[in-house]
Amino acid sequence: TGGGPSARYVLAIDQGTTSTRSIVFDQAGRLVAVRQHEHHQFFPQPGWVEHDAAEIWRNLRRLVPATLADAGIVAEQVAAVGIANQRETTVVWNRRTGEPIHRAIVWQDTRTAALMDSLGADPRAVEVVRRCGLPMAAYFSASRLRWLLENVPGARRRAEDGELLFGTMETWLIWNLTGGPDGGVHVTDVTNASRDMLMNIRTLQWDPQLLDFFDIPAAVLPEIRPSLEVYGLCRELVPGAPIAAALGDQQAALFGQTCFDAGDAKCTYGTGSFLLLNTGSELVNSSHGLIPTVAYQLAGEPPTYALEGSIAVTGSLVQWLRDGLGLISSAPEIETLARTVTDNGGCYVVPAFAGLFAPHWRGEARGVIAGLTSYVNKGHLARAVLEATGWQTREVIDAMNADSGLPIRALRVDGGMTANNLLMQFVADILDTPVVRPMMAETVSLGAAYAAGLSVGFWPDLASLRRNWHRAAQWTPSMDAALREREYENWKFAVTRTFGWVR
Ligand code: G3P
Repeated sequence: TGGGPSARYVLAIDQGTTSTRSIVFDQAGRLVAVRQHEHHQFFPQPGWVEHDAAEIWRNLRRLVPATLADAGIVAEQVAAVGIANQRETTVVWNRRTGEPIHRAIVWQDTRTAALMDSLGADPRAVEVVRRCGLPMAAYFSASRLRWLLENVPGARRRAEDGELLFGTMETWLIWNLTGGPDGGVHVTDVTNASRDMLMNIRTLQWDPQLLDFFDIPAAVLPEIRPSLEVYGLCRELVPGAPIAAALGDQQAALFGQTCFDAGDAKCTYGTGSFLLLNTGSELVNSSHGLIPTVAYQLAGEPPTYALEGSIAVTGSLVQWLRDGLGLISSAPEIETLARTVTDNGGCYVVPAFAGLFAPHWRGEARGVIAGLTSYVNKGHLARAVLEATGWQTREVIDAMNADSGLPIRALRVDGGMTANNLLMQFVADILDTPVVRPMMAETVSLGAAYAAGLSVGFWPDLASLRRNWHRAAQWTPSMDAALREREYENWKFAVTRTFGWVR
């Protein structure tokens, strides 16, 4: 069985929005083997996005044995399993059969935007926001859970009777890994729970007032546990190995970037992009559109908090250029296309596909392409698509500097889009701040592995992890200040054009 004395490896599972990955790390934090599997994206109506949680679990069942085989190891050699996951995506399943009652509703889904608008008008909403720390937005899980209970026939009654279980993806995977209907452990980690809108951000407990407001029966909820703790032993895939950590993927990236001190910040460029600033043991409330969230919690210790700027659409805008418009045939081609021109030709793309998240939090916003003239060609459009990621980062950094009063001196970046040099240089230019990328760019899975390994004593302390961080690339700002600010004003004007579309 796993976790034995010969265990020299940690297995990380990264359950992301577009794919699931299974990765084996060794004690030096080196990647030994990795496997990845995409899952289907279901778009049943405009604005709706769903995943099949059973498919995701089936994929993982194939991935893990293959990854262990690639690494040339067996379950006994796995010291611990750590999970990182797409956050807020909501699944409800039958406790007895393990079958989901509906497809999982993904964090990008906007079906509950109108519900959240009407709940936002309730006089109790101010207190709700204070308790959970989150703005009234469809992004978080509570309204999706409520939607499932109201729209799947019989679900509310079955939930009240204790027949149904709710979870985000880490909860779903831990329950299945630990035995499913034959004794699966029903837990969520505190970072994931901090995105449900049902947890009190100060006490880290489910809050009866929040449950009452969203009309959620307590019987469906998992137990909230620290991020670094042994939740149970695997009965599936890696029998006997302890599941020793779970973190929302963005918090995992913060951990993998070893941002352990207050003031450390990272931005992960993926489907969306998420900038997190470690604020230490202090909960910092934002007055500029950021959200306080739990960064991580070690067992038996108080939590570490972060301020987060969540950007819904960055990499997925490049995917849209590829799949929606067919202007490129692979994502990396965008850089080549953008380099056919020297500037954006006056064009700005504001990708408010699912409304706008930080710092605006406008559910009713929809995307625009602004500044079009007949001069604009596909190269300009490609550039404007890349620049959209940069400008959205700038808006969040401005909010962070204003909230924390500590200007960010260097931004640590990771994620797929950091392979795009044009974009990374643009980010450094418009932030007027150096941008640095570590050697180990798989920070989400590395963070899950670090957390799991630390939790079982495979690594001794945070300092030993920090020593593994090495810089691989740096981009230094070089843009003319007047040009930068003029362009930023144009972007901000374009943003105002997205407001009020859904009426
Ligand atoms: O909040 C959503 C975020 O966790 C999704 O991350 O990398 O799976 O798109 P990713």
